[in-house]
Amino acid sequence: MLKGKNILIGVTGSIAAYKAAHLVRLFIKKGANVKVVMTKAATEFITPLTLSTLSKNPVLIDFKKNETGEWNNHVELGLWADCMLITPASANTIAKMANGICDNLLLATYLSARCKVYFAPAMDLDMYKHATTLKNLKQLASFGNTIIHPEHGELASGLVGEGRMAEPEAIVKFIEQAFSANLPATNKRYLLLLVQPTKLLILFVLSGITPVGKWDLL
Ligand SMILES: Cc1cc2nc3c(=O)[nH]c(=O)nc-3n(C[C@H](O)[C@H](O)[C@H](O)COP(=O)(O)O)c2cc1C
Repeated sequence: MLKGKNILIGVTGSIAAYKAAHLVRLFIKKGANVKVVMTKAATEFITPLTLSTLSKNPVLIDFKKNETGEWNNHVELGLWADCMLITPASANTIAKMANGICDNLLLATYLSARCKVYFAPAMDLDMYKHATTLKNLKQLASFGNTIIHPEHGELASGLVGEGRMAEPEAIVKFIEQAFSANLPATNKRYLLLLVQPTKLLILFVLSGITPVGKWDLL
């Protein structure tokens, strides 16, 4: 399901950033192409070297590539992706995404992406339950972005509650299921049942659960 898919992973400044390494490995093992874009804060938690080695692609952090005036094209990056996954998503980045703030490469890429966007929040329980965060999460959902809910458990602060980033295995499964749910009709297997040769054609999807009537095919 993930073979050949272009997965763009955005990593932000959370203690859970170390999980991004495992996540990248899992996607690569599934045959996906992976590119990583990080915020500056994220580089304090996990090195770009680790993520570029595992993803087999340069990790992008800044708008500018070097002193020669070359730049990292966030528009191209956004168009390359079949799916953008921001994980871990910090409270700060979630707030910026919800408000159209575009002061780093990750956020500019997010705003340019035409693909489906998923984000996996990671933060302390009180940050997660704060009215501002809840409002921002609602706002992101209204834009069509999909949250991968954090788990309940022990947090880096030592407190116990909701806010632990979902485990990489669960995230990969979530994305796999999302791709399979969004499969274009042409990729599914059909049983064509011709009832009335001129008018009535009933189409059943064999690989899915739902029978579909496609009268416009007649
Ligand atoms: C040790 C440490 C752990 C942190 N963990 C988190 C976290 O899990 N979630 C979060 O939202 N912010 C966390 N922060 C705060 C963010 O790093 C900070 O808000 C930063 O500005 C986020 O920037 P970014 O969204 O551009 O990556 C942490 C800060 C420190 C020093």
